[in-house]
Amino acid sequence: MELPRPSADESEVSRRLSVRIQGEIAQTGPIPFARFMELGLYAPGLGYYAGGKAKFGAAGDFITAPEAYPLFGRCLARTAAEALAGAGAADILEAGAGSGKLAAVLLNELAALGSLPSRYYILELSASLRERQATTLKRQAPLHADRVHWLDRLPAPGFRGLVLANEVLDALPVERFHVAADGVRRLQVTWREDRFDWSDTPAPAAMRERVAPLQLPPGYTSEVGFAAEAWVRSVGERLAAGAILLIDYGFPRAEYYHPDRAGGTLMCHYRHRAHADPLILVGLQDITAHVDFSALAAAGAESGLELLGYTSQAAFLLASGLEALARESDPNHVRAHLALTEQIKKLTLPHEMGELYKVIAFGRGIREPLKAFALQDRRARL
Ligand SMILES: C[S@@+](CC[C@H](N)C(=O)[O-])C[C@H]1O[C@@H](n2cnc3c(N)ncnc32)[C@H](O)[C@@H]1O
Repeated sequence: MELPRPSADESEVSRRLSVRIQGEIAQTGPIPFARFMELGLYAPGLGYYAGGKAKFGAAGDFITAPEAYPLFGRCLARTAAEALAGAGAADILEAGAGSGKLAAVLLNELAALGSLPSRYYILELSASLRERQATTLKRQAPLHADRVHWLDRLPAPGFRGLVLANEVLDALPVERFHVAADGVRRLQVTWREDRFDWSDTPAPAAMRERVAPLQLPPGYTSEVGFAAEAWVRSVGERLAAGAILLIDYGFPRAEYYHPDRAGGTLMCHYRHRAHADPLILVGLQDITAHVDFSALAAAGAESGLELLGYTSQAAFLLASGLEALARESDPNHVRAHLALTEQIKKLTLPHEMGELYKVIAFGRGIREPLKAFALQDRRARL
């Protein structure tokens, strides 16, 4: 596929990051793919999420549900209100809040529902995104912006409330492996003939133990999201009471490592083109992998969390009041009505975001089941 050419400024940032990664390879030898992805996305000042690129929306590289479709946040607000009430807790923590649009919609909707959190924390690693979030909140939720506080790491244990993350876990570094005739190999990145290239090494024990039971055929390449699992464990350890709601694209383990997915799930996004080569456009493109929801469920259990629900985004939104919100729209206001219908289609149709995107919820001390999982409970598939 023909990819758009980066501007001169972009090329310069990419060159500097490339030199930084080459330096690390020169010192240590080939680096694990997870380290390459970490630097590509988060190297201070140079990585994709650490720099000032637009990223989300029409001028960026991809769109996400809360960026494009406010109905998503309005539905989520109903589940947020329920989870906060269920835990007798007051705060929300959103990880990786993008442009801040979800935070704005949630705060406005929670105010309308009479369930405003005392504080809305945003855990954001990128300084440029923090600025963008503050601007969005001042413009789109001016009455509630003073409740928002930024964190640069997870809070200390004892947090009571709701932790939310939309499309964050897919952006955490993944390890890649390859099944060779003589066993599982860990994929690494090296510098060869003026470009980054793949190399491999025998897989470490944790990777072998994860991959061996899957009984994958030689030639199979895929990912393991150890960092996403560790993230769920860390959040679980910090949650004293409340819920964790994670929305992302992915599958239960049996589907994740399906024979049809023999090349893995890695995807790169650059100016709305999707392709599968993470070794080019270093620092300029988003790199993501799908989420193994069975692994997240196991990580949650390890930190003593209860699995409250797992379902598709479509079933989650429909059970969170999507239809009722749609009925509020007046068909006589043709343009607004059509725009709303379009949002519903994008969010729920199986070939759009409805089926690939899943929602998983964990809880501690939540007494009542969350209504959002009443329509379809897929926990048994994990
Ligand atoms: C694909 S974007 C999604 C943004 C937003 N949630 C949305 O749905 O539009 C991924 C976000 O995750 C953030 N992120 C990555 N690692 C993180 C971590 N360890 N803690 C918090 N946020 C993180 C990135 O900075 C980025 O804002």
